[in-house]
Amino acid sequence: MVMFKVSCKQTSPFDDQKPGTSGLRKKVSVFNQPNYLENFVQSTFYALSADKVKGATLVVSGDGRYFSKDAIQIIIKMAAANGVRRVWVGQNGLLSTPAVSAVIRERVGADGSKATGGFILTASHNPGGPHEDFGIKYNMENGGPAPEAITDKIYANTKTIKEYFIAEDLPDVDISIVGLSSFGGHEGPFDVDVFESTTDYVKLMKSIFDFEFIKKLFESPKFTFCYDALHGVGGIYAQRIFVEELGAHQSSLINCVPKEDFGGGHPDPNLTYAKELVARMGLGKDNSVGEPPEFGAAADGDADRNMILGKRFFVTPSDSVAIIAANAVQSIPYFASGLKGVARSMPTSAALDVVAKHLNLKFFEVPTGWKFFGNLMDAGLCSICGEESFGTGSDHIREKDGIWAVLAWLSIIAFKNKGNLNGEKLVSVEDIVRQHWAVYGRHYYTRFDYENVDAGAAKELMAYLVKLQSSLPDVNKIIEGIRSDVSKVVEADEFEYKDPVDGSISKHQGIRYLFEDGSRLVFRLSGTGSVGATIRLYIEQYENDSSKIGRDSQDALAPLVEVALKLSKMQEFTGRSAPTVIT
Ligand code: G1P
Ligand code: ZN
Repeated sequence: MVMFKVSCKQTSPFDDQKPGTSGLRKKVSVFNQPNYLENFVQSTFYALSADKVKGATLVVSGDGRYFSKDAIQIIIKMAAANGVRRVWVGQNGLLSTPAVSAVIRERVGADGSKATGGFILTASHNPGGPHEDFGIKYNMENGGPAPEAITDKIYANTKTIKEYFIAEDLPDVDISIVGLSSFGGHEGPFDVDVFESTTDYVKLMKSIFDFEFIKKLFESPKFTFCYDALHGVGGIYAQRIFVEELGAHQSSLINCVPKEDFGGGHPDPNLTYAKELVARMGLGKDNSVGEPPEFGAAADGDADRNMILGKRFFVTPSDSVAIIAANAVQSIPYFASGLKGVARSMPTSAALDVVAKHLNLKFFEVPTGWKFFGNLMDAGLCSICGEESFGTGSDHIREKDGIWAVLAWLSIIAFKNKGNLNGEKLVSVEDIVRQHWAVYGRHYYTRFDYENVDAGAAKELMAYLVKLQSSLPDVNKIIEGIRSDVSKVVEADEFEYKDPVDGSISKHQGIRYLFEDGSRLVFRLSGTGSVGATIRLYIEQYENDSSKIGRDSQDALAPLVEVALKLSKMQEFTGRSAPTVIT
């Protein structure tokens, strides 16, 4: 057996290692500085209780972006030196973020071992490559991201760190080959277990969905499908699940080979960046693409986000979670005995609220970010949740889950077409959405992002809105002067959340204007932006008059958009006459 020695290396702190909502994300050139990654990893080990390091089992993998392979070898050597018993690595260092969550929660090693946490190496939907982003975050024993108490400790440690431990003479482990490598240290044995990346996740999916039932949908000549992984890690799960398990045609997968630089693209599944899929689905400018598939979907780099499309039809993420919740009990075996509750992030449209009300379900509105859902799920209060930012998921893990969302939609499409698979025409994605609107009403929805705004100006705009919302008569007078055809604001506040599980309070989570007719305007500052400030404006118009649910979304939203921009004095404060991105 190869023996290794532990070296203690002197280092000095970096002042920019504060983990954001989704870990530490920086340019590769920043991570490449001597000791930069090492400092953060050692600071994480120091932040965990001793039993989660000494003798523990840790998962280390990610979306395969540039720098991952180097990072994995460094983390393995540091884990060995810090007394970790074994490290589990997905083959080629690949595991989607939801798969890491599943592996931490479900996988049992050959010797009965269980993981107590793991490092996920990803910068999610940010581009990858030598000049782009890398990221690292730590997930806990429940499979969810480390809570603030831990990330605050990590940050504090990064500011005082003086040394780290590493087994420099441990040979690099060949992570392209499945198998166990054993080493000996002065504290005892150390193993690196490289395992097949999809097996555990596929097993979990099979325990949630009826694969045989979904397979029948793929057998129908009427059903056509397209999945775009944008060269992220989702591709390996798509290959295994959609093609090998469910029988989708190989040609229905596009960009499903993971690449270190995501093929030079922006691995974010939305109408702007998932260009090839958007074109195939008949939603692009080019009309010569032929007959689009019935159903299309995309994932981001680490496969936790999803976009759902029908033939020439876009499903908003807010509608998607509402529709999944409305149909889950009938269509998905995992939910057959009912939903414990549902939850959405505050800026996500109220489409889910209406479903919760109709179905008499527990309902929670939480601040932006997945960690708030995790607490509800650990307490057994929530089964399905989602965010407007293309995140959907359930309590099977503690991360959002892009492939899960696609399987949920496949289940619903299969259920709606039961007995109709050889019929004239399938019930389409668009039919399902329109039927949903007919029952629950429609939430026209859009989001305006103002990126890289001067941080001071963004603060002033928010302060102005906080002050303004304290007097409803004033707000309504201003609105009346802008447009007399929108309804009245009946409530406005700065969103604050008291976690029903641990009682913690999160303040300043955005400003809400709630209208009498169920419409809403929300303003908040992004917590993930890297340069200057990003202002997000969320605009939502509720319509439950069935004669008005089929309008063009832009037309339907135009009056509220005008009100939002004038009420907030957006241009005055930011100097911007238009948003950077509209979704
Ligand atoms: C954004 C999204 C939010 C998501 C987060 C991490 O955060 O809006 O829903 O949870 O990315 O993927 P924001 O930049 O708005 O703070
Ligand atoms: Zn992601």
